[in-house]
Amino acid sequence: MSADDQKKAAGEAAAALVETGMVVGLGTGSTAAWFVRALSARMKDGLTITAGVPTSESTAALARELGIPLQTLDEARRIDLTVDGADEIGPGLSLIKGGGAALLREKLVWEASNRCVCIADAAKLVETLGKFHLPIEVVAFGHRKTANRILDVLMDHDIEMPARLRQKDGAPVLTDGGNLIYDANCVAIHNPAQLADDLKRVTGVVDHGLFLDLCDEALVGSESGVDRILP
Ligand code: 5RP
Repeated sequence: MSADDQKKAAGEAAAALVETGMVVGLGTGSTAAWFVRALSARMKDGLTITAGVPTSESTAALARELGIPLQTLDEARRIDLTVDGADEIGPGLSLIKGGGAALLREKLVWEASNRCVCIADAAKLVETLGKFHLPIEVVAFGHRKTANRILDVLMDHDIEMPARLRQKDGAPVLTDGGNLIYDANCVAIHNPAQLADDLKRVTGVVDHGLFLDLCDEALVGSESGVDRILP
């Protein structure tokens, strides 16, 4: 199976978890888009949900196109289940997310959810987090000074490469919240919990892509089907 077939299979397996009346957090990225499509297909077959809560403007647009009713995070009285992709899945279902620049809204929705399921292709499984550059969302004001302070934190964690401002077509990428993303080439993150805390303490850092102790279950596409992984 190609990576995309694996993502599709994982998205379909996650859509099978949705039950009548649920409020469902809708993740961002190509794998989450497969989930949103599979959810919409189930709804066309008769499943009724209360609403989807999108984690990005792009997911909101896709869900609207497919006729999925939406609520904002503040409108939702609860979120029963959130399904979202990941850039890396490490030990204990620790994750790196944010490759699609949606990490802040994703984390807000995950933290408000009763159950979080990560869906991915098998290439996302790693023994140590850090090969995928860690996204760090920062406010635009004074961001180069913030980046210097991020470098100090990274050096304390034996990571010597400065984080790089994410750009597209020669311009900085803006998140849905109007912030910037710095991507840190960590190579190997030996103490993700400490790094997560240290980054959050930097003024100007809004959040980072380490999702720790948030994921209840992963559904990972493989050559033979979809593997269910628990923390
Ligand atoms: C977006 C994310 C995505 O879930 C992550 O980048 C995985 O993307 P894809 O499913 O396209 O591989 O965190 O911010």
